Amino acid sequence: MLILAIETSCDETAVALVENGTKIVSSVLSSSQDLHKKTGGVIPEQAAREQIKCMIPVLDEALKVAFSNRTLSETVSQIDALAVTYGPGLIGSLLIGIETAKTLSYLWQKPLIPVNHLIAHLYANWLENNKVNYIKPNTDVFPALCLVVSGGHTDLVLMKNHGQLSYLGGTRDDAAGEAFDKTARLLGLAGFMGGPAIAAAAEKYRQQSEKNLPKITLPRPMINSEDFDFSFSGLKTAVVNEVKKLQQTNDFNTQTINALSYEIQEAITDVFEKKIFKALNVFKPKAFLVAGGVSANLVLREKLKNVCAKTKVQFFVPPIRLCNDNAAYIGSYAFFNYHPAPLLKISANPTLEII
Ligand code: KG4
Ligand code: ZN
Repeated sequence: MLILAIETSCDETAVALVENGTKIVSSVLSSSQDLHKKTGGVIPEQAAREQIKCMIPVLDEALKVAFSNRTLSETVSQIDALAVTYGPGLIGSLLIGIETAKTLSYLWQKPLIPVNHLIAHLYANWLENNKVNYIKPNTDVFPALCLVVSGGHTDLVLMKNHGQLSYLGGTRDDAAGEAFDKTARLLGLAGFMGGPAIAAAAEKYRQQSEKNLPKITLPRPMINSEDFDFSFSGLKTAVVNEVKKLQQTNDFNTQTINALSYEIQEAITDVFEKKIFKALNVFKPKAFLVAGGVSANLVLREKLKNVCAKTKVQFFVPPIRLCNDNAAYIGSYAFFNYHPAPLLKISANPTLEII
Protein backbone atom coordinates (compact mmCIF):
# COMPACT_ATOMS: atom_id res chain seq x y z
CA MET A 1 0.00 0.00 0.00
CA LEU A 2 1.38 3.40 -1.01
CA ILE A 3 0.49 6.35 1.25
CA LEU A 4 1.11 10.01 0.47
CA ALA A 5 1.72 11.79 3.77
CA ILE A 6 1.73 15.51 4.58
CA GLU A 7 3.24 17.15 7.67
CA THR A 8 3.03 20.89 8.43
CA SER A 9 2.66 21.08 12.22
CA CYS A 10 5.41 23.64 12.93
CA ASP A 11 7.89 25.42 10.66
CA GLU A 12 8.30 22.58 8.15
CA THR A 13 6.40 21.67 4.99
CA ALA A 14 6.96 17.99 4.31
CA VAL A 15 5.56 15.40 1.91
CA ALA A 16 6.54 11.74 1.70
CA LEU A 17 5.44 8.63 -0.17
CA VAL A 18 5.74 5.54 2.00
CA GLU A 19 5.16 1.94 0.97
CA ASN A 20 3.68 -0.55 3.45
CA GLY A 21 4.63 1.65 6.39
CA THR A 22 8.32 0.83 6.06
CA LYS A 23 9.83 1.97 2.77
CA ILE A 24 10.41 5.65 2.03
CA VAL A 25 9.82 6.06 -1.70
CA SER A 26 10.34 9.82 -1.52
CA SER A 27 10.54 12.35 1.27
CA VAL A 28 10.83 16.08 0.63
CA LEU A 29 11.01 18.80 3.25
CA SER A 30 11.25 22.55 3.19
CA SER A 31 11.79 24.45 6.40
CA SER A 32 11.58 28.15 7.21
CA GLN A 33 14.19 27.72 9.99
CA ASP A 34 16.54 30.28 8.50
CA LEU A 35 13.86 32.95 8.87
CA HIS A 36 13.22 31.96 12.50
CA LYS A 37 16.92 31.95 13.39
CA LYS A 38 16.78 35.74 13.14
CA THR A 39 14.05 35.93 15.78
CA GLY A 40 15.28 33.03 17.95
CA GLY A 41 11.99 31.14 17.61
CA VAL A 42 9.12 30.38 15.26
CA ILE A 43 6.71 33.23 14.57
CA PRO A 44 3.53 31.27 13.74
CA GLU A 45 2.15 33.76 11.22
CA GLN A 46 5.46 33.85 9.33
CA ALA A 47 5.78 30.03 9.35
CA ALA A 48 2.29 29.63 7.88
CA ARG A 49 2.92 32.19 5.17
CA GLU A 50 6.06 30.32 4.11
CA GLN A 51 4.15 27.02 4.13
CA ILE A 52 1.53 28.42 1.77
CA LYS A 53 4.35 29.20 -0.66
CA CYS A 54 6.08 25.81 -0.24
CA MET A 55 3.17 23.36 -0.08
CA ILE A 56 2.63 22.81 -3.81
CA PRO A 57 6.33 22.81 -4.84
CA VAL A 58 7.15 20.30 -2.06
CA LEU A 59 4.21 18.08 -3.09
CA ASP A 60 5.25 18.35 -6.72
CA GLU A 61 8.86 17.42 -5.91
CA ALA A 62 7.85 14.40 -3.77
CA LEU A 63 5.69 13.10 -6.63
CA LYS A 64 8.45 13.72 -9.19
CA VAL A 65 11.02 11.82 -7.10
CA ALA A 66 8.63 8.88 -6.72
CA PHE A 67 7.17 8.75 -10.26
CA SER A 68 9.74 10.50 -12.44
CA ASN A 69 8.28 10.16 -15.91
CA ARG A 70 4.68 9.20 -15.24
CA THR A 71 1.68 11.32 -16.15
CA LEU A 72 -0.47 12.74 -13.36
CA SER A 73 -3.22 10.17 -13.88
CA GLU A 74 -0.69 7.30 -13.80
CA THR A 75 0.78 8.81 -10.63
CA VAL A 76 -2.58 9.15 -8.91
CA SER A 77 -3.52 5.59 -9.77
CA GLN A 78 -0.45 4.35 -7.82
CA ILE A 79 -1.42 6.12 -4.57
CA ASP A 80 -3.74 4.17 -2.26
CA ALA A 81 -4.38 6.68 0.50
CA LEU A 82 -3.42 10.02 2.00
CA ALA A 83 -2.36 10.88 5.54
CA VAL A 84 -2.02 14.22 7.30
CA THR A 85 -0.97 15.51 10.72
CA TYR A 86 -4.01 17.07 12.47
CA GLY A 87 -2.24 17.98 15.74
CA PRO A 88 -0.62 19.05 17.92
CA GLY A 89 1.01 22.09 16.37
CA LEU A 90 0.46 25.65 15.24
CA ILE A 91 -3.10 26.17 14.04
CA GLY A 92 -2.23 28.13 10.87
CA SER A 93 0.46 25.61 9.92
CA LEU A 94 -1.71 22.55 10.57
CA LEU A 95 -4.52 24.02 8.45
CA ILE A 96 -2.29 24.28 5.39
CA GLY A 97 -1.47 20.57 5.46
CA ILE A 98 -5.01 19.54 6.34
CA GLU A 99 -6.70 21.61 3.63
CA THR A 100 -4.19 20.39 1.03
CA ALA A 101 -4.76 16.76 2.06
CA LYS A 102 -8.54 17.16 2.05
CA THR A 103 -8.50 18.76 -1.40
CA LEU A 104 -6.36 15.94 -2.83
CA SER A 105 -8.49 13.32 -1.12
CA TYR A 106 -11.66 14.80 -2.64
CA LEU A 107 -10.16 15.29 -6.11
CA TRP A 108 -8.42 11.92 -6.32
CA GLN A 109 -11.11 10.04 -4.40
CA LYS A 110 -8.63 8.50 -1.96
CA PRO A 111 -9.17 7.81 1.75
CA LEU A 112 -7.55 10.25 4.22
CA ILE A 113 -6.07 9.17 7.56
CA PRO A 114 -5.73 11.85 10.26
CA VAL A 115 -2.46 11.45 12.19
CA ASN A 116 -1.41 12.34 15.75
CA HIS A 117 2.05 13.86 15.27
CA LEU A 118 3.34 12.72 18.69
CA ILE A 119 2.55 9.03 18.28
CA ALA A 120 3.70 9.23 14.68
CA HIS A 121 7.22 10.27 15.77
CA LEU A 122 7.64 6.72 17.15
CA TYR A 123 6.95 5.22 13.71
CA ALA A 124 10.29 6.55 12.45
CA ASN A 125 11.47 3.31 14.09
CA TRP A 126 9.54 1.21 11.56
CA LEU A 127 11.11 2.92 8.54
CA GLU A 128 13.87 1.09 6.73
CA ASN A 129 17.03 3.11 7.08
CA ASN A 130 20.37 1.91 5.80
CA LYS A 131 19.12 -1.52 6.87
CA VAL A 132 20.22 -0.99 10.48
CA ASN A 133 18.29 -0.89 13.71
CA TYR A 134 14.73 -0.61 12.44
CA ILE A 135 11.75 -2.74 13.38
CA LYS A 136 11.62 -5.36 10.66
CA PRO A 137 8.24 -6.77 9.60
CA ASN A 138 7.12 -9.55 11.98
CA THR A 139 9.52 -8.48 14.74
CA ASP A 140 7.64 -8.80 17.99
CA VAL A 141 8.14 -5.53 19.89
CA PHE A 142 4.92 -5.40 21.90
CA PRO A 143 4.48 -4.41 24.63
CA ALA A 144 6.91 -1.60 23.82
CA LEU A 145 7.95 1.13 26.21
CA CYS A 146 7.98 4.36 24.18
CA LEU A 147 9.50 7.76 24.88
CA VAL A 148 8.65 10.79 22.76
CA VAL A 149 11.05 13.67 23.34
CA SER A 150 10.38 16.63 21.08
CA GLY A 151 10.47 20.41 21.24
CA GLY A 152 7.10 20.71 22.94
CA HIS A 153 6.48 17.26 24.45
CA THR A 154 8.02 14.66 26.72
CA ASP A 155 5.77 11.62 27.01
CA LEU A 156 6.30 8.06 28.20
CA VAL A 157 3.73 5.49 27.04
CA LEU A 158 3.34 1.75 26.91
CA MET A 159 2.28 0.50 23.47
CA LYS A 160 0.57 -2.88 23.72
CA ASN A 161 -0.10 -2.91 20.01
CA HIS A 162 -0.63 -0.40 17.21
CA GLY A 163 -3.33 1.96 18.50
CA GLN A 164 -3.27 0.57 22.05
CA LEU A 165 -1.39 3.02 24.19
CA SER A 166 -1.45 3.69 27.89
CA TYR A 167 0.04 6.81 29.39
CA LEU A 168 2.77 6.37 32.00
CA GLY A 169 4.04 9.88 32.52
CA GLY A 170 5.22 13.11 30.99
CA THR A 171 6.58 16.52 31.75
CA ARG A 172 4.84 18.63 34.33
CA ASP A 173 6.22 21.86 32.87
CA ASP A 174 8.84 22.32 30.12
CA ALA A 175 9.57 19.56 27.61
CA ALA A 176 13.15 18.30 27.28
CA GLY A 177 13.57 20.02 23.90
CA GLU A 178 12.22 23.23 25.37
CA ALA A 179 14.80 22.96 28.18
CA PHE A 180 17.59 22.64 25.61
CA ASP A 181 16.19 25.55 23.57
CA LYS A 182 15.62 27.91 26.50
CA THR A 183 18.94 27.24 28.25
CA ALA A 184 20.78 27.65 24.92
CA ARG A 185 19.22 31.08 24.63
CA LEU A 186 20.30 31.94 28.20
CA LEU A 187 23.87 30.98 27.25
CA GLY A 188 23.73 33.11 24.12
CA LEU A 189 23.96 30.01 21.92
CA ALA A 190 20.64 30.81 20.29
CA GLY A 191 20.16 30.07 16.67
CA PHE A 192 17.00 28.26 15.99
CA MET A 193 17.35 24.89 17.74
CA GLY A 194 19.07 24.91 21.11
CA GLY A 195 19.67 21.16 21.36
CA PRO A 196 22.38 20.84 18.71
CA ALA A 197 24.04 24.07 19.97
CA ILE A 198 24.23 22.79 23.57
CA ALA A 199 25.45 19.39 22.33
CA ALA A 200 28.25 21.01 20.28
CA ALA A 201 29.40 23.23 23.18
CA ALA A 202 29.24 20.24 25.57
CA GLU A 203 31.41 18.21 23.21
CA LYS A 204 34.08 20.95 23.21
CA TYR A 205 34.12 20.80 27.03
CA ARG A 206 34.31 16.99 27.02
CA GLN A 207 37.24 16.96 24.61
CA GLN A 208 39.20 19.26 26.92
CA SER A 209 38.08 17.71 30.18
CA GLU A 210 41.60 16.71 31.26
CA LYS A 211 42.61 20.41 31.28
CA ASN A 212 41.21 21.23 34.71
CA LEU A 213 38.26 23.20 33.29
CA PRO A 214 35.55 24.80 35.48
CA LYS A 215 33.04 22.28 36.86
CA ILE A 216 29.45 23.39 37.34
CA THR A 217 26.76 21.26 39.00
CA LEU A 218 23.07 21.53 38.12
CA PRO A 219 20.05 19.71 39.59
CA ARG A 220 18.50 16.57 38.05
CA PRO A 221 14.82 17.41 38.65
CA MET A 222 12.56 14.53 39.76
CA ILE A 223 15.29 11.97 39.09
CA ASN A 224 14.32 9.93 42.15
CA SER A 225 10.57 10.50 42.15
CA GLU A 226 8.38 7.40 42.38
CA ASP A 227 6.33 8.27 39.29
CA PHE A 228 7.29 8.46 35.61
CA ASP A 229 6.83 12.22 35.34
CA PHE A 230 9.50 14.73 34.40
CA SER A 231 10.15 18.40 35.14
CA PHE A 232 12.69 20.62 33.44
CA SER A 233 11.72 24.19 34.37
CA GLY A 234 13.79 24.06 37.60
CA LEU A 235 16.86 23.27 35.53
CA LYS A 236 16.25 26.40 33.50
CA THR A 237 15.99 28.48 36.71
CA ALA A 238 19.23 26.94 37.98
CA VAL A 239 20.94 27.95 34.72
CA VAL A 240 19.60 31.53 35.09
CA ASN A 241 21.17 31.68 38.57
CA GLU A 242 24.51 30.22 37.43
CA VAL A 243 24.70 32.69 34.54
CA LYS A 244 24.00 35.62 36.92
CA LYS A 245 26.70 34.44 39.34
CA LEU A 246 29.24 34.05 36.53
CA GLN A 247 28.38 37.47 35.11
CA GLN A 248 28.83 39.12 38.50
CA THR A 249 32.37 37.75 38.81
CA ASN A 250 33.16 38.38 35.14
CA ASP A 251 33.53 34.65 34.55
CA PHE A 252 30.82 34.25 31.91
CA ASN A 253 32.97 33.23 28.95
CA THR A 254 33.34 30.49 26.33
CA GLN A 255 34.85 28.07 28.83
CA THR A 256 32.07 28.45 31.39
CA ILE A 257 29.42 28.39 28.64
CA ASN A 258 30.86 25.07 27.43
CA ALA A 259 30.96 23.77 31.02
CA LEU A 260 27.34 24.77 31.59
CA SER A 261 26.29 23.19 28.27
CA TYR A 262 28.00 19.95 29.27
CA GLU A 263 26.21 19.92 32.61
CA ILE A 264 22.81 20.79 31.07
CA GLN A 265 23.14 17.85 28.67
CA GLU A 266 24.30 15.55 31.49
CA ALA A 267 21.44 16.64 33.77
CA ILE A 268 18.72 16.09 31.15
CA THR A 269 20.10 12.78 29.91
CA ASP A 270 20.78 11.47 33.46
CA VAL A 271 17.09 11.93 34.28
CA PHE A 272 16.03 9.91 31.22
CA GLU A 273 18.65 7.25 31.89
CA LYS A 274 17.47 6.69 35.46
CA LYS A 275 13.71 6.87 34.77
CA ILE A 276 13.82 4.64 31.70
CA PHE A 277 15.93 2.09 33.59
CA LYS A 278 13.25 2.06 36.30
CA ALA A 279 10.41 1.80 33.75
CA LEU A 280 12.14 -1.10 31.95
CA ASN A 281 12.35 -2.98 35.24
CA VAL A 282 8.75 -2.23 36.22
CA PHE A 283 6.98 -2.86 32.89
CA LYS A 284 9.32 -5.47 31.43
CA PRO A 285 8.60 -4.57 27.78
CA LYS A 286 9.92 -6.51 24.78
CA ALA A 287 11.36 -3.33 23.29
CA PHE A 288 12.10 0.28 24.04
CA LEU A 289 11.46 2.90 21.35
CA VAL A 290 12.56 6.53 21.54
CA ALA A 291 11.75 9.25 18.99
CA GLY A 292 11.37 13.01 18.53
CA GLY A 293 13.90 15.76 17.90
CA VAL A 294 15.78 15.30 21.19
CA SER A 295 16.42 11.62 20.37
CA ALA A 296 19.02 12.96 17.89
CA ASN A 297 21.18 13.71 20.94
CA LEU A 298 24.17 11.36 20.90
CA VAL A 299 24.67 11.28 24.67
CA LEU A 300 21.01 10.44 25.23
CA ARG A 301 21.14 7.70 22.56
CA GLU A 302 24.19 6.16 24.23
CA LYS A 303 22.72 6.23 27.75
CA LEU A 304 19.40 4.74 26.60
CA LYS A 305 21.20 2.06 24.59
CA ASN A 306 23.16 1.11 27.72
CA VAL A 307 20.10 0.81 29.99
CA CYS A 308 18.45 -1.42 27.38
CA ALA A 309 21.57 -3.59 27.19
CA LYS A 310 21.59 -3.88 31.01
CA THR A 311 17.94 -4.95 31.10
CA LYS A 312 18.19 -7.05 27.91
CA VAL A 313 15.44 -5.12 26.13
CA GLN A 314 15.61 -4.48 22.35
CA PHE A 315 16.48 -0.83 21.70
CA PHE A 316 15.23 1.20 18.75
CA VAL A 317 16.11 4.79 17.88
CA PRO A 318 15.62 6.34 14.43
CA PRO A 319 18.61 7.48 12.38
CA ILE A 320 19.34 11.12 13.16
CA ARG A 321 17.79 12.44 9.94
CA LEU A 322 14.45 10.85 10.89
CA CYS A 323 14.37 12.17 14.49
CA ASN A 324 13.30 15.68 13.56
CA ASP A 325 9.96 16.44 11.97
CA ASN A 326 9.33 14.89 8.53
CA ALA A 327 6.43 13.32 6.64
CA ALA A 328 7.87 9.80 6.29
CA TYR A 329 6.85 8.68 9.77
CA ILE A 330 3.39 10.21 9.23
CA GLY A 331 2.98 7.77 6.31
CA SER A 332 4.25 4.87 8.40
CA TYR A 333 1.84 5.62 11.26
CA ALA A 334 -1.07 5.78 8.79
CA PHE A 335 -0.25 2.32 7.40
CA PHE A 336 -0.09 0.63 10.82
CA ASN A 337 -3.09 2.61 12.14
CA TYR A 338 -5.23 2.57 9.01
CA HIS A 339 -8.36 4.47 10.09
CA PRO A 340 -9.53 6.79 7.30
CA ALA A 341 -12.04 9.42 8.45
CA PRO A 342 -14.71 11.37 6.56
CA LEU A 343 -13.33 14.73 5.39
CA LEU A 344 -15.83 16.71 7.42
CA LYS A 345 -14.68 14.96 10.60
CA ILE A 346 -11.02 15.94 10.14
CA SER A 347 -10.02 19.24 11.71
CA ALA A 348 -6.90 20.76 13.23
CA ASN A 349 -6.33 20.17 16.94
CA PRO A 350 -3.38 22.34 18.06
CA THR A 351 -3.44 20.98 21.66
CA LEU A 352 -3.84 17.28 20.86
CA GLU A 353 -2.17 15.05 23.46
CA ILE A 354 -0.41 11.72 22.86
CA ILE A 355 -3.50 9.82 24.07
O1 KG4 B 1 10.49 16.66 17.16
P1 KG4 B 1 11.03 17.97 16.76
O2 KG4 B 1 11.79 18.08 15.47
O3 KG4 B 1 9.92 19.05 16.67
C1 KG4 B 1 8.79 19.02 17.48
O4 KG4 B 1 7.83 18.30 17.11
O5 KG4 B 1 8.87 19.69 18.54
O6 KG4 B 1 11.96 18.43 17.97
C2 KG4 B 1 12.65 19.65 18.00
C3 KG4 B 1 13.46 19.70 19.29
C4 KG4 B 1 14.08 21.07 19.58
O7 KG4 B 1 13.79 21.43 20.92
C5 KG4 B 1 15.58 20.83 19.40
O8 KG4 B 1 16.39 21.66 20.21
C6 KG4 B 1 15.70 19.38 19.81
O9 KG4 B 1 14.54 18.76 19.24
N1 KG4 B 1 16.92 18.74 19.26
C7 KG4 B 1 17.93 18.30 20.04
C8 KG4 B 1 18.94 17.83 19.16
N2 KG4 B 1 18.50 17.99 17.87
C9 KG4 B 1 17.24 18.55 17.97
N3 KG4 B 1 18.06 18.28 21.38
C10 KG4 B 1 19.22 17.77 21.88
N4 KG4 B 1 20.23 17.34 21.12
C11 KG4 B 1 20.14 17.33 19.76
N5 KG4 B 1 21.15 16.87 19.02
ZN1 ZN C 1 7.78 16.66 16.13
